[in-house]
Amino acid sequence: MRHFRSVAVVVVLTVIAAAPLLLRAQPKPNPRDVSKLYGELCASCHGPKLTGAQAPSLLDDVWKFGGDDASISKSIKEGSLAAGMPPMANALSDQEVRAMVIFIREEAAKFKRGQSTFAKPAADTVVKSELHTFKLETVVNGLGVVWGIDFLPDGRMLLTEKSGRLRIVEHGKLVPTPVGGVPEVWAKGQGGLLDVAVHPDYSTNGWIYLSYSDPGPDGSAMTAIVRGKLKDGQFVEQETVFKVPTELYRTGENHFGSRLVFDKGYLFFSIGERGQKDDAQDITRPNGKVHRIFEDGRVPDDNPFVGKAGALPTIWSYGHRNPQGLAKDPATGLLYDAEHGPRGGDELNLVQKGRNYGWPVITYGMNYDGTPMTDLTAKEGMEQPVNYWVPSIAVSAIAFYTGTKFPKWDGQLFLGALAQEELRRLVLADGKVTHQEVLFKNVGRVRDVVSGPDGYIYVSFDGGRVARLVPAPGEPGTASR
Ligand code: HEC
Repeated sequence: MRHFRSVAVVVVLTVIAAAPLLLRAQPKPNPRDVSKLYGELCASCHGPKLTGAQAPSLLDDVWKFGGDDASISKSIKEGSLAAGMPPMANALSDQEVRAMVIFIREEAAKFKRGQSTFAKPAADTVVKSELHTFKLETVVNGLGVVWGIDFLPDGRMLLTEKSGRLRIVEHGKLVPTPVGGVPEVWAKGQGGLLDVAVHPDYSTNGWIYLSYSDPGPDGSAMTAIVRGKLKDGQFVEQETVFKVPTELYRTGENHFGSRLVFDKGYLFFSIGERGQKDDAQDITRPNGKVHRIFEDGRVPDDNPFVGKAGALPTIWSYGHRNPQGLAKDPATGLLYDAEHGPRGGDELNLVQKGRNYGWPVITYGMNYDGTPMTDLTAKEGMEQPVNYWVPSIAVSAIAFYTGTKFPKWDGQLFLGALAQEELRRLVLADGKVTHQEVLFKNVGRVRDVVSGPDGYIYVSFDGGRVARLVPAPGEPGTASR
């Protein structure tokens, strides 16, 4: 319950003096940074840090007029003049109001973070999470950015270093020489050697798949996929599984995606929009899409855009920004992607045939410089995310846990975050995220997360470390043999 302040009279008087001035300010055509707009239009009443002054705090999660996005937008636009909140509909555009809501959410999250502590597991520290206690145990260290992790049936671990090297870890030790003969990669910005995936029937066919930024003419690049076999430390018998004509390549260092997911003879993979927002809506281009092909690269003729003039037939869904996570729920067979959004626009999506995921027409985010992008968060014909994060946590990879070492986590979704340096556990039910837990934080930018065949959860950090979550002594998974 909010307490009405005895200073109400003072507030009203201040408003009467300030309101005409505020109401005259018209939105400028140039995009304006909302944190500055807050300082100019709101700080005098709600306090420079949003913690409240003569007007209530915007960070305490107490909302007189409702705390959902729409209600807060309405409070800002319409105000409540009698109580001393001037209507801002004339001072701010709809897009700026939307960006202001994102800004308030960001500041509230920062405020909360300052008040709570998260597990920051050092070596041998036991972390007590909600359902399991675990340790974060280093597997290998001293690598570059480890983008992808997968396992061979014999237990060897394959790692991709973004710089362009494929590595093997055998019996817990890094094989010193990288695998030879992998394709040349465009290793700049967010590009390089990306995901690695071992074919589900590896023991009979020996295929290993790699996704990577393929260099094109004039400094351009695009995500491509190759498969090959491992022989005497070399990547041999290579076959290109996916590559578009170089006219479709893009310059710029951002948003390559990508992850690989096998599903009943098909290969799904994601490509970021390469920093070209509008390409995500353009089905003649490969970027900003999730694709589906057969495992040898052929195009299934029941793909949604097969036969559509100009369309790339491999496209399965579009309107994606930078899907750096892609995973199939083993229980339902449904495919999910985790999409690194703009500021305040990270998403988890249920990826379905032919659907449009809206980027950049709809988003819950704004530009990184604090200027608005759009006030549209939903539109007919465009899909809503299963979950979104405002503020952004900078989502990277996702994985469903399928092991037996942490029985209470069975089938749940694990999600890595870069900027927030987190590993999260998500519970999905009826197409919604019903619970989230931050398992640890601030030990490094989490790049990949994988449910290992041995039941441990493997995580790679941008600092070049691969670690795994192992049950702490006393957990069911550690019962003495
Ligand atoms: C002149 C003082 C004043 C200014 C300027 C002002 N506010 Fe307010 N605001 C108030 C007061 C007072 C209330 C509480 C109204 C009430 O309790 O009915 C309020 C309420 C709100 C609420 C609703 C809170 C709730 O509990 O539901 C929001 C959101 C809000 N303000 C945002 C803003 C933003 C954003 C700006 C700047 C664009 C702004 N305000 C500028 C005085 C101000």
